Amino acid sequence: MSKFPMAQGLKVAAVTGAGSGIGEAAAMKLAKDGFHVAVIDILSDKVSAVARAIEAIGGQALALVADVRQADSVDRAFEAIENWRKCPDVLVNSAGIIVRGQLTTPLLSER
Ligand SMILES: NC(=O)c1ccc[n+]([C@@H]2O[C@H](COP(=O)([O-])OP(=O)(O)OC[C@H]3O[C@@H](n4cnc5c(N)ncnc54)[C@H](O)[C@@H]3O)[C@@H](O)[C@H]2O)c1
Repeated sequence: MSKFPMAQGLKVAAVTGAGSGIGEAAAMKLAKDGFHVAVIDILSDKVSAVARAIEAIGGQALALVADVRQADSVDRAFEAIENWRKCPDVLVNSAGIIVRGQLTTPLLSER
């Protein structure tokens, strides 16, 4: 339940990997659709840039640096979102890396 009485009807989205690519596109689209968007990425300069881009089109954004590999980092980010607005209605989980190679290419952890 939101702490903000005015939050009734408010739509909140959280997007991980929002600093670029699919996550950035999803964050911008959700902002254009009226969502207040938590822009989450491991790279601080990228979250700031995307949050500014959302605000530049009249949207509402919260820039959060978090590493989705770390549970406590994710917990802190979602606590910050609930303190900012409320529990997100939508989650886009786009954080990740692309490793190009053959099936026989060693995994990152094996290199
Ligand atoms: N683009 C494609 O064709 C494609 C195809 C299949 C799967 N995917 C997957 O979709 C996801 C997004 O792809 P994309 O093309 O938008 O990639 P992208 O590299 O443009 O964006 C990924 C974002 O995730 C962030 N990120 C990486 N590790 C993170 C971490 N530990 N915590 C928080 N943020 C982190 C990066 O900083 C980056 O901003 C990736 O997981 C990718 O593997 C993409």
